[in-house]
Amino acid sequence: MARLNKTVILALLVASSSVFLLFQLYYYRHYISKHGIYPSSNEHWQLETDAQLQVVKMFLGLMSRYNVPVFLIDTAALGNLSQVPPKEYRSGQRHCSFLCTRREFTTFAVFAKFWKHDTSLPRVAAEHGLELLEVRGNDPRLVGLDNLSGTTIPLHLLFSSKGHVVHLVIFYERSGNYLWHGPLRLKSSIDRKLIPFQKLDFGRHAGAFDRPELLLSSVDGLDVWIPKNTSRFLTEYSHARFVECRYRDARTFYQLYPEDTSPEATDFRMKARSLLSVASQTLTGLGIPFWLSSGTCLGWFRQCSLISYSKDVDLGIWIKDYKPDIIHAFEKTGLPLKHKFGKVEDSLELSFQGFDVKVDFFFFYEEGDIVWNGGTQAKSGKKFKYVFPRFSLCWTELMELKVRVPCETLDYVEANYGQNWNIPVKSWDWKSSPSNVQENGAWPVREWSEVIRVY
Ligand SMILES: *[C@@H]1O[C@H](CO)[C@@H](O)[C@H](O)[C@H]1NC(C)=O
Ligand SMILES: *[C@@H]1O[C@H](CO)[C@@H](O)[C@H](O)[C@H]1NC(C)=O
Ligand SMILES: *[C@@H]1O[C@H](CO)[C@@H](O)[C@H](O)[C@H]1NC(C)=O
Repeated sequence: MARLNKTVILALLVASSSVFLLFQLYYYRHYISKHGIYPSSNEHWQLETDAQLQVVKMFLGLMSRYNVPVFLIDTAALGNLSQVPPKEYRSGQRHCSFLCTRREFTTFAVFAKFWKHDTSLPRVAAEHGLELLEVRGNDPRLVGLDNLSGTTIPLHLLFSSKGHVVHLVIFYERSGNYLWHGPLRLKSSIDRKLIPFQKLDFGRHAGAFDRPELLLSSVDGLDVWIPKNTSRFLTEYSHARFVECRYRDARTFYQLYPEDTSPEATDFRMKARSLLSVASQTLTGLGIPFWLSSGTCLGWFRQCSLISYSKDVDLGIWIKDYKPDIIHAFEKTGLPLKHKFGKVEDSLELSFQGFDVKVDFFFFYEEGDIVWNGGTQAKSGKKFKYVFPRFSLCWTELMELKVRVPCETLDYVEANYGQNWNIPVKSWDWKSSPSNVQENGAWPVREWSEVIRVY
C-alpha cells in the first residue's frame, strides 16, 4: 500500500510538471506570436541594456585584473554624459542611464604604453565570458621614406558577449606629439559577420587626437575614466580623420628626381619647417583651422616633404574662420605682415615675413559645388581666382608636425597643378601656371589703398 502510494504520488508529480511544462510552452509560443520574443518593448529594452551594462562590467573587471587603465570614448555614452554636470554621473534616473546607449557596442580606449601583450588574455577573457578578437595593422611610426617595411602592431581589440561588443581602441603616441589610432580592417568574413564593424565609432578611418585630460568618475555605479571635457572630445572626434603620407609613391618620385641635398635646399626646408611650426601653434592658439595649400600641399602629397625650390609656405583658411587678431598674433611671434591683399568679403590674402621664408595665408570662399581663393597683382590691381572642388579636412603628419590637408588631396592637387603634378616644374608663374586660375577683373583704383597693402 505504502509502495503504491509512493508510485502514484511520483506519477502525479511527473504528470503535473509535464502539464506545467506544456503550459509554459504554450504560453511562450502564444507570446512570441503575439508580442515578439519579449513580453513588452520596455522589458525588451531593459533586458538589452542589462546585457550592455553586464558586458561593460565584465570588460572592466578583466582590464582591472590586468591593471590596464582604459577610458571611455563611446560617442553616445559621452554624449549622454555631456548633457549633465559631473556630479550627476553617478545617479541617473534609470540604473543604467549613461552607458546603456541601445547600441550593439561600447567603446573604450587605452594608451599603447599601458597595453601589455599577455598570452593569457584570450583565455582569461573567455573565463570572464568574453570572446576576444585582436585586429592588427602596420605600425606607421616605423614607415618612412627610408623604410617601407614596418611591422604590425595591435590596433583594435574587440571583446564580445551576448551579442554585445566592447571595442577597445589603442591610441599610439606619434612624433608630432599627438595620439593616433589605426583603421579597423577585418580580414575574415566570419569576423565581419560577428562584429558590427560598419557601425563602430572608431576604425572606419585612422584618427588623430590631442592627449585628453582624464577624470575618474562613477558612471552608472561603475568606476570609469572619461575625458574631463566630454564636449571637447566629441568635437575633436567629429574631425579626427587622419591620412598617412604616400611614402611608397614619394620614394618612387625621388628615384626619378633625387632630393636636393645642397646646403641651400636643406636650409630652406629647416626654415620652412620651423615657420610652419610657429604658424601652426599661433593659428591653433587662435582656434583657426588651416590646411597645407598650393606648393606646400603638393610637397606633402608628392614627396612627403617640403619642395626646396618653393619660396614660401602656403596655408589655406576658411574665410568664415578669419579673425582680425591674426595680424597682431603673428606680429607678436616676430612675424611682421608683409602684404595684405583683398578684403574679408573678397579675395583676402595675408603674407607674413619669417626668417628668409614667408608664409602666405589664402582665404577660401565657399560657393555652391566649388570653393575658391583669390589673387591680386599689386602693380596692376588685377584679380585672379583659383577654383577647387569642395573638400573636407584630414589630419596628417609632415616633418613631425601634425597638420591638416584636404582629404581628397589628389583632386585638390590636380585642380591646382593639372594631371602632370608628378613632374617638377621650377619656373612657376602664379598668374598663369596653375590649371585652375581664372582672370577675375580688377580692383577699382579708388579701392587700391584698402585692398593692396604692401609693407
Ligand atoms: C543615452 O543615449 C542613448 C542613445 O543615444 C539614448 O537612447 C538615451 O536616451 C540616452 N540617455 C540619456 C540619459 O540621455
Ligand atoms: C625597417 O623596419 C623594420 C621593421 O620595423 C626594422 O626591423 C628595420 O630595422 C628598419 N630598418 C631601418 C633601416 O630603419
Ligand atoms: C570644454 O571645451 C570647450 C572647447 O571645446 C570649451 O569651450 C569649454 O569651456 C570647456 N569646458 C570646460 C568645463 O572646461
